[in-house]
Amino acid sequence: MSDHAFSPEERAAVYRAIAERRDMRHFVGGEVAPELLARLLQAAHQAPSVGLMQPWRFIRITRPELRAGIQALVEVERVKTAETLGERSDEFMRLKVEGIGDCAELLVAALMEGREAHVFGRRTLPQMDLASLSCAIQNLWLAARAEGLGLGWVSLFDPLELARLLGMPAGSQPVAVLCLGPVGEFYEQPMLVQEGWARERPLDELVFADHWGQRS
Ligand SMILES: Cc1cc2nc3c(=O)[nH]c(=O)nc-3n(C[C@H](O)[C@H](O)[C@H](O)COP(=O)(O)O)c2cc1C
Repeated sequence: MSDHAFSPEERAAVYRAIAERRDMRHFVGGEVAPELLARLLQAAHQAPSVGLMQPWRFIRITRPELRAGIQALVEVERVKTAETLGERSDEFMRLKVEGIGDCAELLVAALMEGREAHVFGRRTLPQMDLASLSCAIQNLWLAARAEGLGLGWVSLFDPLELARLLGMPAGSQPVAVLCLGPVGEFYEQPMLVQEGWARERPLDELVFADHWGQRS
């Protein structure tokens, strides 16, 4: 054991937050205290980022008409997704894919404008800005779970329409609508597994040694 390791209880808490984090779509309203929301956003802001570019921007949605506008954009995309799915269309429409109407807080996580100026770590992999924003969202997700709050990541929307709705500058891009708040209970498994939509693959199918597909 490294001298720098956390105590056994602290380690267990970290692994518990990781294991019990769920993507939540059922919320019970309520509210998130301002100091708690600030703590969660600070956790997001402590994420790693390529070249320390910190490309994340978070827009807290406070106006009901904007929340309704976002819900409408998601509904349009939900229907288009179902149409694209063909034979699984009806099954998809029965899934709950967002909790925008019931969550205490609605956040939009976005990439900043002017990202082309940041080339450190992005010359061959420009999508590392998105990877960095994803790290921030994961921090927020895990911190929320530790605080007993659910978070749901919604990516069913037209980014240009959402950017227009929120007055975002050219070059910026909304990436996630985040539903955050108290929940009745956390799903024991990913909801898509519980609903029979998808199955999880075991880790050993996804770890290779030396060459692609080669098991260790
Ligand atoms: C990048 C990303 C986008 C996602 N978009 C949606 C979405 O639009 N709607 C939804 O219901 N879930 C969405 N999810 C949640 C996934 O369905 C969920 O993470 C997955 O089923 C595993 O469940 P778990 O997060 O509870 O472990 C998204 C997750 C990620 C990481």
